[in-house]
Amino acid sequence: MLRIIVGVRDRDSLRRAVPMVRRIFVVLRPRSGEPMDQSGQSESDRGQEPVSHGTNHQATDADWSRFRRQMPVAERWAYFDHAAVAPLPAPAVGAIRLWVESASCNGVTEWSQWQESLSAVRQLASEWLNVSSREIALVRNTTEGIGLIAEGFPWEAGDNVVTLASEFPSNLYPWQNLASRGVETRLVPTDLEQVDLNRLESACDERTRLVSVSWVGYATGFRLDLAQVAEIAHRRGARLFVDAIQGAGVWPLDLQRVPVDFLAFDGHKWMLGPEGAGVLFIREEQLTRLRPLNVGWNSVKTAGDFSQQGVRLKDSAARYEGGTMPVPGFVGLAASWRLLQEYGVERLSSRLKQVTDQLVERLNRETPACVVSCRQSPHFSGIVSCDVPGGCSQRLREYCRERQVVVNCRGGRLRLSPHVYTNLADIDRIVEILRDFPFQRRRDSDHDNKSGCSGCS
Ligand SMILES: Cc1ncc(COP(=O)(O)O)c(C=O)c1O
Repeated sequence: MLRIIVGVRDRDSLRRAVPMVRRIFVVLRPRSGEPMDQSGQSESDRGQEPVSHGTNHQATDADWSRFRRQMPVAERWAYFDHAAVAPLPAPAVGAIRLWVESASCNGVTEWSQWQESLSAVRQLASEWLNVSSREIALVRNTTEGIGLIAEGFPWEAGDNVVTLASEFPSNLYPWQNLASRGVETRLVPTDLEQVDLNRLESACDERTRLVSVSWVGYATGFRLDLAQVAEIAHRRGARLFVDAIQGAGVWPLDLQRVPVDFLAFDGHKWMLGPEGAGVLFIREEQLTRLRPLNVGWNSVKTAGDFSQQGVRLKDSAARYEGGTMPVPGFVGLAASWRLLQEYGVERLSSRLKQVTDQLVERLNRETPACVVSCRQSPHFSGIVSCDVPGGCSQRLREYCRERQVVVNCRGGRLRLSPHVYTNLADIDRIVEILRDFPFQRRRDSDHDNKSGCSGCS
């Protein structure tokens, strides 16, 4: 529970963090611990370098503890479900509260300040992906981004799109929905644990116009080498679409080096943003090949001038933004993203690798769980999927929740998705639960031979 104190401290840093704020100031105080200011920092955090800059630029344990203090959820829960819906960090909570107050007290008079959060997210996305902000459209979610490409792509009857059978439905249905336009969707079978790129290539032919894959598989956490997938797609004369939601924010991705054509993600998982605020990347040269969709007042160069009657679309990907955006979502996402940016994606990724390595090692050694996620470089991710005796059950999820541990089941397996602020005490809690839980059925292969755990060939 958060106690809200209204104060007037640190006005300038508040303005910088949340540009729309003029007259409203909120101090967040967690249930226990130190008070935090409007940017979510505690007394002891203020005035310190946010992340230590030692010789090897590694963040220290103190840096990660400081990150953890920005996560109110950690007060109560050991949270292993960032691959579903992430909890909000204090800076995002503060920023959204300020937006609520601003919208309530001042209405449209502060509208232009709210728009600055949209620009901030566009800028943060272009920096993370190393692309032009002209190639970024803001969307409500990953599904919307996929749909804009699926429906706008210049298909001809007889074309096909190649994707993986293990994809999340949002990366299947929009393609399958093209059947009525004569476009075939080819599903490449995958072993649950890994993706065989030879099979992907074999599924492509001269009518393959697009390959669509998730960067990180939502069930097993297998992270694809996107440079290799792009090479295959382009060699076959196809374009590449990437659903990046299960990797965005915590793994580096430089689209100058990796020639992905289209990419979409929402911020509510690894980016620690609220639901309903996402990003679509469209490579500049693809923009004019797509049929513009969702065209509205905000798609045109003269957006805001309602007397205009001709459609002169923006030259940038923002032409897809059509109408009013879900502003509070982007206000929150901008704040969460700035928190991640303070640490930097290199530190975040090496920390998440460290956390998941510790988790995998403890699960395999001390519990009946057998980790199946591929842990080899570059395929590891933040998702740790395990076989448990009898399969992952609703009962197990509830048992964990009753003990303030949040986990999920996917594909009959237990899916654990920690984050950079997860600590050893959290790992102790899930390990203890899995040691104690009365699993119903024990298959021999579940326990007796754990040599296949965390395996991939
Ligand atoms: C791989 C993948 N793609 C897409 C989605 C859905 O994303 P959104 O709700 O942003 O459309 C999910 C959600 O779990 C997912 O795991």
